[in-house]
Amino acid sequence: MIEEIKKVEEEIRNYLHELRTREDLEKFRNTFLVKKGKIQQLFDRMRELPKEEKPKIGRLLNDLRNLAENLFNEHLDKISHTESTKPKLDLTLPGRIDYIGHRHPIYQTMDRMVEIFVSLGFKVAEGPDIEDEYHNFDALNFPPDHPARDMQDTFFIKSDKKLLLRTHTSPVQIRVMHATKPPIRYIMPGRVYRNEAISARSLAEFHQIEGLYINHNVTFAELKGTMIEFSRRMFGENLRFRFRPSFFPFTEPSAELDISCFLCGGEGCRVCKYTGWLEIAGCGMVHPNVLRAGGIDPEEYTGYAFGLGIERVAMLLTGIDDIRMFYQNDLRVLAQF
Ligand code: PHE
Repeated sequence: MIEEIKKVEEEIRNYLHELRTREDLEKFRNTFLVKKGKIQQLFDRMRELPKEEKPKIGRLLNDLRNLAENLFNEHLDKISHTESTKPKLDLTLPGRIDYIGHRHPIYQTMDRMVEIFVSLGFKVAEGPDIEDEYHNFDALNFPPDHPARDMQDTFFIKSDKKLLLRTHTSPVQIRVMHATKPPIRYIMPGRVYRNEAISARSLAEFHQIEGLYINHNVTFAELKGTMIEFSRRMFGENLRFRFRPSFFPFTEPSAELDISCFLCGGEGCRVCKYTGWLEIAGCGMVHPNVLRAGGIDPEEYTGYAFGLGIERVAMLLTGIDDIRMFYQNDLRVLAQF
């Protein structure tokens, strides 16, 4: 009998390695702990024993049953614990969708502006970001001592001041004049650089779209017509316009174009600073000296030019009121557009 008790005890201990799931535990219980299980069968056989052996065998059998019950409870605890902490695999969850990038709001704005001008008959040209003094200033009729050439406004690349980061897209006008013959009708989008203090309203790097039209008898009326048609398509039909006299070395006469604020309808709001007007472009008739620098006879041809700031337009269209937000690469901002 003692031998058999030892055998069952060994069986129980060997079983330990196999107790992993609830089913394993149930099998264990059915083998050892139920009414017809191996332990109870041994208890049943106590009847056959001589009286003097009964207490000793009884004690051994009680120990055996305790061992089996303890192991059972211990493993039940373990299994319930892993069940409750293990993350459940849910095959009905939708798959993870990769985030697909999209065009930056500044470039979306630029694309829209380019599209409108292309539909009005303009071709697209580009020039280098690193320019020379000749294209950026001299050929555009800037006098040698013009303050814009000053170190405070221009990033010069070499100390001899021959190379610089272009301060506007106007030098591309000169490149286009040298590359083609009138009639010339081009827009020239690109990035420009100015040594300016960074604030909510200005950056040292921003974008412009330059426009240039040169032909026989081009008039200021055509400039107005083009700017007005562009603005209506870009900002809406119900706009009023104001061409304010201004000055640029490369245009004469020069003007600044204001449109009535399309956010408040001209009533006055925070965006238009309660003036009812938004300044959107510099423009004018191409100066004869600039035509000459471009190899075009000002007695034969006239032309107009304009320059639009892209960030400013993007701010108006997106409602972003701090220009720095465009370049902080915060997807919470950029993914909205
Ligand atoms: N280049 C001017 C600027 O950067 C804008 C402009 C372009 C004005 C063409 C007139 C004609 O402010």
